[in-house]
Amino acid sequence: MNLKSRLEASLAPGQLRLLHLAADAASQSGLPLYIIGGSVRDLILGSAIQDLDLTVEGDAIALARALAKRHGGRVTAHTKFGTAKWFLPKDLQTESSETLDLISARSETYKHPAALPTVKMGSMDDDIRRRDFTINTLAIRLDGDRFGELRDDLGGMDDLKQGIVRVLHAKSFMDDPTRMYRAVRYAERYGFKIAEETLTLIPQARPLIEKLSAQRIRHELDLILEEWNAAAMLARLAELDLLQPIHPALTFDESMRERLSHLHTYRGLQHLSPWNITRGEQMRPSDLGWLLWLMSLSQEQVSALNDRLHFTADLLASLFAVSKMYAAQSSFIGLKPSQCVERLESYPLAAVEAVGYAAKDPRVKECFDEYISKWRYIKPHLNGDDLKALGVEPGPRYAVILRRLRNAWLDGEVKTEAEEKALLKALLDPPPAST
Ligand code: CTP
Repeated sequence: MNLKSRLEASLAPGQLRLLHLAADAASQSGLPLYIIGGSVRDLILGSAIQDLDLTVEGDAIALARALAKRHGGRVTAHTKFGTAKWFLPKDLQTESSETLDLISARSETYKHPAALPTVKMGSMDDDIRRRDFTINTLAIRLDGDRFGELRDDLGGMDDLKQGIVRVLHAKSFMDDPTRMYRAVRYAERYGFKIAEETLTLIPQARPLIEKLSAQRIRHELDLILEEWNAAAMLARLAELDLLQPIHPALTFDESMRERLSHLHTYRGLQHLSPWNITRGEQMRPSDLGWLLWLMSLSQEQVSALNDRLHFTADLLASLFAVSKMYAAQSSFIGLKPSQCVERLESYPLAAVEAVGYAAKDPRVKECFDEYISKWRYIKPHLNGDDLKALGVEPGPRYAVILRRLRNAWLDGEVKTEAEEKALLKALLDPPPAST
């Protein structure tokens, strides 16, 4: 099978030119050059290639240096892994990238189950066999007149056509238990099935999940929470009993699924520029995913989970905050805007936004949503300098007065600058108390 025309149609002209330059240099050095893995999978499934990583059967660093010598730019290399990054000269930079990654084909072996792999330079055959699933083993040859030729050693094309996620060998999940999470991610992303024999390998690898570092397991869950249908993936993980072995506090139920559906709204809205202007800051979808998923946990559960997953400091603070606010939702009913603001100001914005998505009672929702989109920006027109000019003695009283003015704006007590000034005058110069 030749994918030349598919490749040419899917790549931007600049990318294609780059590909040919690399292919020519590889041919001249007698080195087979390939695109392999996720890019080929996605190309065959009909999406554009995002990262143009090239794998060379031989020394990728030498190839990158030869390219830079001929065409300009510079190279950084990781000799240990045989990988090189070519920082492209201006005339070769494309809209999507200023660099090109060149990777030496490698073998990966595992010293013990769940260990990080030991990486060695290897053949293309090694590089194909080190991979997780057959659908990720497809490669396209780029050098010489074999440009576009599909290499399908392990039946990846058949599995891709039939929609099957299948490991390459029976020890795959034991070598790398994160692959169980990857299997679910691919299956749900593409609407594929996990092969029956692959599913039967889960029980023996499940006890190894506890050996995975916090960073590795969190990374897999982050990747899942970045996906549009994260909820379906988590539901499937729960069904396969792959959440509890991470930590008993990790479960998945209907209310979690419902909350996570708001990830769609967020992802959709993220692309609308007026919304960006109103909301200002953006958070990673995976962070919002964590907050929506776990907001029903208690403070103790969040803390225990953090011992296992080592959340970033910001995410942890937001997780504690959503847990508190979610549990106390009814206490936000019937508050004046200024009271909402006063309470919500002490919480991280991401946490407030997440509870805003999840809240069902419209009165609670309003408090959170209006705070995010409007109320937090409302400030009085007068400031400390104005107070000084009016002869108010500087001190803690300033903050009290300015807050009082802000609250008056928030609650609609003042609607114009003149009304604000009148209120200030009344505050500074209260009418004598009647006796
Ligand atoms: N890989 C693997 N085992 C892992 C992680 C990655 O075998 N635990 C291999 C897969 O063959 C994969 C390749 O390394 O195709 C690159 O990994 P990654 O960039 O994570 O995946 P992509 O294929 O690009 O898929 P995605 O669309 O999820 O990014």
